[in-house]
Order: sequence, then structure tokens, then C-alpha cells
Amino acid sequence: MTVTESLAPVPVAGMPRIGDPAPAFTAVTTQGEINFPADYAGKWVIFFSHPADFTPVCTSEFMTFASMQKEFASYNTELVGLSVDGLYSHIAWLRTIKDKIAFRDMHDVEVTFPLIDDVSMAIAQKYGMIMPGEDTTKAVRAVFVIDPKGLIRTVIYYPQSLGRNFDELLRIIKALQTADHFHVATPADWRPGEPVIVPPAGSCGTAKQRMEDHVEGVQCEDWFFCTKQIPADEVESAIRVKDGA
Ligand code: BEZ
Repeated sequence: MTVTESLAPVPVAGMPRIGDPAPAFTAVTTQGEINFPADYAGKWVIFFSHPADFTPVCTSEFMTFASMQKEFASYNTELVGLSVDGLYSHIAWLRTIKDKIAFRDMHDVEVTFPLIDDVSMAIAQKYGMIMPGEDTTKAVRAVFVIDPKGLIRTVIYYPQSLGRNFDELLRIIKALQTADHFHVATPADWRPGEPVIVPPAGSCGTAKQRMEDHVEGVQCEDWFFCTKQIPADEVESAIRVKDGA
């Protein structure tokens, strides 16, 4: 290959962007057929891809997702996985995970969320999960957070060699739900109970007013940087699914 050839642009499939409706599809999964995202209306979804069945990083991730599934569900969040392997490979891999694999304090882990069969790569292509510079026949580790209206709210891509950070995935769910519920933004590394950002002043008048009228509970460092405290229990009771709901 010449230098010019190696620098030639690789065609890139379209990628859904933040704010776009999640592209729709029907698929065969380890939990039966799904109609996505329609079957998940009213719920948050973490839709993620992994490169291949029977690989170690993916195995550690599936065990972690499965062990956190109830916690995600307590924030009205469902999990849906995809790889470009077929259904029978998926079933065999998930059985092997349950029967044979221990990782950290996890063992005997049953994966009960759907894992999509995408041997044609049609869904992976639709979601920009195949990145030819990394691999032409396997997906990267993509994560799409989709809201109850079916809109994409967060997109993260990891390379094949890097396992995802699951604390961060849960933090993203809590932060997005908090932002929606309280009409605020969340600063760097935010966790429930820490100050949130009050939306910036949208006019010179509001900016002046902000600095002159001291609103109780709102602390302004400057006109554009104001925070307020929302106690962790208030955040949790707003975003957590109520018992029996
Ligand atoms: C893994 O999941 O272990 C893996 C998959 C593809 C490439 C490298 C690692």
C-alpha cells in the first residue's frame, strides 16, 4: 500500500447524533423479537454494541451489565446489547458465562436483557457502530443513551481494547434524568447531592439581575456561573422508580 492509499479517507457510515430520533429497526434477540425503539417507549434505554461473543473484555462487560441491570431498572432504564454474531453464538456464549465464568465477585451470572443478532451488520451500520479504521467486520464498543421519547441523548464510542466504565454509565442516566426533572445542568464529575448548574442568564438584563438580586439558595460566582444545591434524597426520590411502579 502506498502512503497516498493509506491516507485515503475510509467511507464512514452515518452516525446518529445527540438529539436525533433513535433509528428504528426490528431484530431477533436472545429474548425474542424486538421492535426498537417503539417497544421501549416511556423508558430510558442503554443500547450498546460489543465486538464479538466469546471474547474476554466483552464477557467482563456483559457480566457487569447483568449484575447492574436491577439498578438501571430502578432508574427506569433498560439494557439492549448488539454484536454482529448470530443468535446461536449469543445463546452459547451467555450459557458459558453463566456456567463457567467468574469475574471479580460475579459468578453464575444470567444475562436476561436482549442481545441482538446482527450478522448482516445492518443495525450496526445504521448506528455507526462499525468503524473501518478499527475493524471492518466487528463493532466498536458504542453506547447510545435513548430517552423515553426515543431521542438519542448521549453517544459514547470506545475502541475494542477498552472496557466501558459502568459507574459513568449509571452517572449519565442519573445526570440526564436530573437535568430533565429539575431543568438544570450538571457540572464536571457531578453526582447526586452535589450542586447543580442553574441555566446561564440569557440576556444582559437577567445577568445584571442575577448579580444584584440574591436569590435564596442560588450561589453565583459570576453572572454566567450560578449553582444551587439539590439534596441527594430529593434527586433520588425524583428520578428513582417508586416501589411497585
Ligand atoms: C474482547 O472483548 O476481549 C476483545 C474483542 C475484540 C478485540 C479485542 C478484545
